[in-house]
Amino acid sequence: MCTSGHHQEEAAPETFKHLLERVRALVEGPHERDEKLRTICILLAANVLHYHWVGFYLVGRPEKKELLLGPFLGDPTEHVRIPFGRGICGQVAERRETRMVQDISREPNYVACSPSVKAEIVVPILRNGALLGLLDIDSRFHSPFSVEDQMFLEQVCELLAPLF
Ligand code: SME
Repeated sequence: MCTSGHHQEEAAPETFKHLLERVRALVEGPHERDEKLRTICILLAANVLHYHWVGFYLVGRPEKKELLLGPFLGDPTEHVRIPFGRGICGQVAERRETRMVQDISREPNYVACSPSVKAEIVVPILRNGALLGLLDIDSRFHSPFSVEDQMFLEQVCELLAPLF
């Protein structure tokens, strides 16, 4: 019996392991950084059924304390610049720790992109503690994320840090 409350579509760990190998190979490949990030959005959205909007926010000049929208896959968003502290992304930029929000309707500091989004996970990309960017994933499902998602996405972000 499933008591976890997660959706049946939750990706099996083998999928995450396989995806990490793909990400590692991609990072080492010859393409430009943003092309690699774009390909990662496609890889994640195509293989994990509860990842519906997948995108990156990047830190331009750290002293501006602002996130700039980078490569993404999903509906266009008007939130191309997000100040540190604002919304889930802005909170993660300040705290430099992953936030997994299983029900965004209960999150007071949230920047809405689309009414269909129910949950969001945001993972910082860090090098030596400094923030380089964020990986932001929206889901149309309620409570879709597990600790395995968090561990997987944190490993993805670790692999990506050398690109910055
Ligand atoms: N919902 C995010 C804003 C970015 S969009 O999801 C693309 C937030 O609250 O930070």
